[in-house]
Amino acid sequence: MQSDDVREAADRLKRGDLVAFPTETVYGLGADATSRDSVRAIFAAKGRPADHPLIVHLPSADQMDLWAREIPDAARRLANEAWPGPLTLILKKAPGVLPEVTGGQDTVGLRVPSHPVALELLRLVGRGVAAPSANKFGHLSPTSAQHVLQEFGDDVFVLNGGPCRVGIESTIVDFSRETPVILRPGHFDAAQLSAWAGVQIPGMDRASGTPRVSGSLESHYAPTTTTRLLDVEDLPAAITSLAANRKRIGLYARRLPIMSGRSVYWRQMAVTPEGVAHELYSMLRDLDTLSLDEILVERPPAGVEWTAVRDRLQRATARRPS
Ligand code: TXA
Ligand code: MG
Repeated sequence: MQSDDVREAADRLKRGDLVAFPTETVYGLGADATSRDSVRAIFAAKGRPADHPLIVHLPSADQMDLWAREIPDAARRLANEAWPGPLTLILKKAPGVLPEVTGGQDTVGLRVPSHPVALELLRLVGRGVAAPSANKFGHLSPTSAQHVLQEFGDDVFVLNGGPCRVGIESTIVDFSRETPVILRPGHFDAAQLSAWAGVQIPGMDRASGTPRVSGSLESHYAPTTTTRLLDVEDLPAAITSLAANRKRIGLYARRLPIMSGRSVYWRQMAVTPEGVAHELYSMLRDLDTLSLDEILVERPPAGVEWTAVRDRLQRATARRPS
């Protein structure tokens, strides 16, 4: 990565343009978070509903107080441990934070990413950069510069920082309520977060059924091809029956069942949760480009270490609201 490119990206952001940039989780579509018009341009480019709040990316935790108020000590401890890194904190917003950024809510999402290119960019810009994942609304998040090009073509300047290390979106912890709660599972699990924060942080928010997080809409991060999540022992029968109907099948699984035949396009699934998180979106995106009739995905194991991957796979395979 050339520093010249990063400088150009920073200049573009300061001018009010959109820039796609790498983070350790997924690529973001950035805009100056203090410019109403720039932030609005994100929603237009993504086709995203205006009431979905954006995460503000900061060069360091020192800038938290410019964006949030009444920050609990536990949130500060967590920020100090996990940042720069794949964690977003939801906090009460400071006065003056644009309603376009917060989706009109009284809270703001903050994150300091650890990708060196993102950090260099944020330091050069010197202020908050609002950035959702750099994909059209409802599509899979991009984990390479190539994916961003597939989404936006030449419409957006893309900083290429290689493939994203983590591969799924940041863990979101909401500290704006009475007790902290995980809104979106990710790389850091509840036990790790609780240890860092020094308070108990329970798992996913099942209590309030409201979609405060756009990712909590059932069918999000989804391929356009019909995609089904199946237990490993049910894969052979599903393949046999689809193949009997002359269907072309995508398969993302640890093993290729014997007798799968030539109508099966197999992508091998990694064996660790980190491995699957890292490759997941690019595997699904790849299979999605093959004009297949259906994609079958092997359900990962049941342990807590698989929570985030399971969450993304459930969304990718949830039936879309018609
Ligand atoms: O890893 C990530 O978080 C990536 C990279 C680019 O940083 N960003 C990302 O942004 O995933 P996006 O917009 O695709 O998802 C952010 C989620 C959304 O579901 C949004 O609703 C939620 O964060 N969010 C942002 N601000 C919020 C707030 N004030 N209250 C509740 N949820 C919020
Ligand atoms: Mg997104």
